[in-house]
Amino acid sequence: MKVPFSPPDITEQEIEEVAAALRSGWITTGPRTKEFERGIAALCRTKQAVCLGSATACMEMALRLMGIGPGDEVITTAYTYTATCSVICHVGAAPVLVDTLPGSYEMDPSAVERAITEKTKAVICVDLAGIIYSAYDEIFRIAEEKKGLFRPANERQQALGRILVMADAAHALGASRDGKMSGQIADFTCFSFHAVKNLTTAEGGAVTWSEAVENAGIDSGELYRDYMLYSLHGQSKDALEKTRAGAWEYDIVAPLYKCNMTDLQAAIGLAQMKRYDGILRRRKELIERYDAALKGDQTDVLGHYGDTWQSSGHLYLTRLKGRTREECNRIIEKLAEQEVASNVHYKPLPMLTAYRNLGFDIGDYPNAYAQFENEITLPLHTCLTDEQQEFVIEVYKKAAGI
Ligand SMILES: Cc1ncc(COP(=O)(O)O)c(C=O)c1O
Repeated sequence: MKVPFSPPDITEQEIEEVAAALRSGWITTGPRTKEFERGIAALCRTKQAVCLGSATACMEMALRLMGIGPGDEVITTAYTYTATCSVICHVGAAPVLVDTLPGSYEMDPSAVERAITEKTKAVICVDLAGIIYSAYDEIFRIAEEKKGLFRPANERQQALGRILVMADAAHALGASRDGKMSGQIADFTCFSFHAVKNLTTAEGGAVTWSEAVENAGIDSGELYRDYMLYSLHGQSKDALEKTRAGAWEYDIVAPLYKCNMTDLQAAIGLAQMKRYDGILRRRKELIERYDAALKGDQTDVLGHYGDTWQSSGHLYLTRLKGRTREECNRIIEKLAEQEVASNVHYKPLPMLTAYRNLGFDIGDYPNAYAQFENEITLPLHTCLTDEQQEFVIEVYKKAAGI
């Protein structure tokens, strides 16, 4: 039985919505993107959201909008996908990678505290697998306590008065913790709608900002306008505005970037949004079944759901206790022989050429390495049938000898 890892869940509703956009005569950023932004803001219970071409663009533009660049340092975790860290490099700042807590995928807050210097401008936390990072409160407390070290370089940094706390919530749309939705907790929260994500627009991303940002006196309207400028060449009017009769004239306020979302992407997103409650429910059902079959003495799994948090249920990470990477790779091959696709989340950044070349050494990240050593991610998506899931469980147990 062939079981793909994470195919897009596309129904006739998405196809109809895209066809309607194609027939409408407007296919780039326009009314559908704006409607999708309102939908994301409603889901995240934030005042506003901006949709761009990817989560990467959302994170990079957040750093740029806050004036973070050369000479600055940004702290993040060694246990993540490259995008969390590459955006730091894109803006010319220096990435500072910290280890995870022992036996955990989560960034160690005390390591963050130790890494803070006068140059630190931001910390990027990761909501891995759809579970909101459990130490935001602690990161905010550390940011407050280290205010004395903070050297603001512009008005926005001055207004915030402390290190910016950003969430890489690429996996976590719809997750909640302590009564707050993902999107309301970190100063800026960035979501991905890449083809493998819970809610897809083929490629795409969204960013929200919290009340704390507004309360610090950073105007939401201005942030939104700047996001529009930064994502569309620094052009003072967007394409739709320019098409209005007699309104051709525009200015370029700075030579900026091009990473807007199109209405075709938003059309897919609007259809997915209508189904999103059901998508989250089905993911929860699948995770509970995997947990019942696999969680135990030999296999560690993530706690996606608890009294105070609900995951978006994006990825099903397992760790086979006491096994080596080589043993796990053989298990992955055995799964592949049965046409079951699996994956590894993640090879820690210091093991990748780009970050080794920046001077990072995996020897300095023993906890992140230990998490990677015996990790296997199983298929989890809303095209997965109950029958397929049973088959995955059977094949995995057999291959792992558990
Ligand atoms: C943790 C994490 N951050 C960021 C991204 C980047 O998202 P995007 O492809 O929308 O830029 C991904 C994508 O897979 C991711 O897994």
